Amino acid sequence: MKILAIESSCDETACAVVEDGRRILSDIIASQVDEHQLYGGVVPEIASRRHCENISGVCEEALEKAGVSLDEIDAIAVTYAPGLIGALLVGVNFAKGMAVAAGKPLIPVHHVKGHIAACYLTYPELKPPFLALTASGGHSQITLVNDYTSFTTLGRTIDDAAGEAFDKAARSMNFPYPGGVFIDKAAQNGNPHLYKLPRPHTEGEFDFSFSGLKTSVINLVHNAHQKGEEIDTASLAASFQFTVAEILSDKLMLAACRYKVGAVVIAGGVAANSGLRAAVTEKANERDIKVFLPPISLCGDNGAMIGAQAFYEFQAGNVANSELNAYATLSM
Ligand code: KG4
Ligand code: ZN
Repeated sequence: MKILAIESSCDETACAVVEDGRRILSDIIASQVDEHQLYGGVVPEIASRRHCENISGVCEEALEKAGVSLDEIDAIAVTYAPGLIGALLVGVNFAKGMAVAAGKPLIPVHHVKGHIAACYLTYPELKPPFLALTASGGHSQITLVNDYTSFTTLGRTIDDAAGEAFDKAARSMNFPYPGGVFIDKAAQNGNPHLYKLPRPHTEGEFDFSFSGLKTSVINLVHNAHQKGEEIDTASLAASFQFTVAEILSDKLMLAACRYKVGAVVIAGGVAANSGLRAAVTEKANERDIKVFLPPISLCGDNGAMIGAQAFYEFQAGNVANSELNAYATLSM
């Protein structure tokens, strides 16, 4: 089954053709990051406009690269929640138009479920049940994937997402937006134990809190500036990355042991972080838990992950009609 999948929940206009939920035939991404960088974050109105301009060309390119015509596509999938509402609506309406015009089924996909499904594209042996840690610019959560379309959220951030904390901390260190990847690079040359940063407590055992940690980095930088003191940026980046990776990997392992799950997956933009990948791999190996890391190219937002999850949604009968709406927030 060939699915054409569209993703437009934030600042990437993406479209992919995926076969049977496991094989990428094409995966096209038009990133708007250069433009949003000028403003230090995603400007929703600009994101929506760029999606409108790009979506048609991106979909055409995805079909062309896959070497298939729209006739040969079996279904159209689209991210319908959560995300920036104006951005989501562009993808949803484009997908609806395409599905109606071509007479194809329409499959709505939850963005976070898509992130988790990214690993299906790399690991043929990966099958539920497993535990997933999703950490991106908008989400941080630990989810029990009972089956391809059955999820139990065990914990989530009570304030900032991990990626948001990375980006705000990076900004205080004068890195461009989105700063996660710059912290990652700078951290390679730093001492992760030079700065002692707080690990905020949460009531929920598997919940996260990153707001206090983020603020402590920002305050540390401001105070140093005021006193005319030098900051060791590489070591601050390394200390911050180390702390976030410890928080995320410790809770993931705690949940894996509590629920006796033999496999863990990490997903979302922050899953590209080298410190997090190393921490999760090391701790899982110590506990004889299998680890599945998505390739860096599938960590950030893309259409292929939506096509992967869509295959299983379709099999479970989750299809929509032309009344499908988009939602800025929606639980799994
Ligand atoms: O999944 P994603 O592309 O979009 C959302 O759904 O939010 O995630 C984007 C986030 C940004 O906060 C970005 O800074 C972060 O992922 N990110 C990283 C790295 N690469 C991307 N954070 C830490 N280390 C990285 N290497
Ligand atoms: Zn995302």
